[in-house]
Amino acid sequence: MNRIVLLGPPGAGKGTQAKRLATELGIPHVSTGDMLRAAVAQGKSLGKEADEYMRKGLLVPDALVLGILRERLASPDARRGFILDGYPRNVAQARTLAEITPVDHVLYFEIPESVLVERMSQRRSCPTCGTVYNLLTNPPRTPDRCDRDGTPLIQRPDDTEEAVRTRLAVYREQTLPLLDLYRNQGLLRTVAAAGSVEEVNARVRAALR
Ligand code: AP5
Repeated sequence: MNRIVLLGPPGAGKGTQAKRLATELGIPHVSTGDMLRAAVAQGKSLGKEADEYMRKGLLVPDALVLGILRERLASPDARRGFILDGYPRNVAQARTLAEITPVDHVLYFEIPESVLVERMSQRRSCPTCGTVYNLLTNPPRTPDRCDRDGTPLIQRPDDTEEAVRTRLAVYREQTLPLLDLYRNQGLLRTVAAAGSVEEVNARVRAALR
């Protein structure tokens, strides 16, 4: 089965690859970050609680994230597999995930920090449909407008220099230890995540074979 976890630092291209892979494999892309941002945009109580953590680049408390994750993985479309993007992010979340579902592949997106910072500073996204652009590598056809629905594009509030610094520190402290955990379980494959979207996609597919 394709129960896939994508691990990697912020800005590594996990979301970009997950969307492609979801189409290619016919399984859902389950992004805790996207679900939390949707809850914020819809003014849900979960969103109100999560917003402050996200803006600062801190992890949202485990219990809040677990609720939405559990519900999403229980959906019928996730029965044939899923691409988990943004979960788990610490050892406690990895343990919880193991209680909910087995995992078949863990792909680690390895990339130099300088590339990450540039990718995040150039990222823009559509607040209506969620399409992600990059001003350098994947710009919209009309400047600052979504190709799909014409909505003015926004910069994520956690793509500021300060929040990015915090996100990278949180990643190093809390998420990096998961590499050893999944390596010891024989599940980890490393994907070189620098290069074009097509090149990385080819490496992801090769790692899943
Ligand atoms: P989340 O949304 O998961 O953010 P992240 O992990 O920091 O990852 P990003 O979305 O920044 O990067 P990405 O790797 O998906 O890169 P992308 O494809 O967009 O989490 C946000 C926040 O939510 C967290 O900080 C936390 O507060 C909270 N949260 C979420 N999950 C949580 C959890 N489990 N527990 C607790 N809190 C949680 O690409 C980046 C840019 O580069 C784009 O512009 C893209 O177009 C471009 N790009 C992508 N690939 C390439 C390429 N190959 N070449 C050139 N450009 C590229």
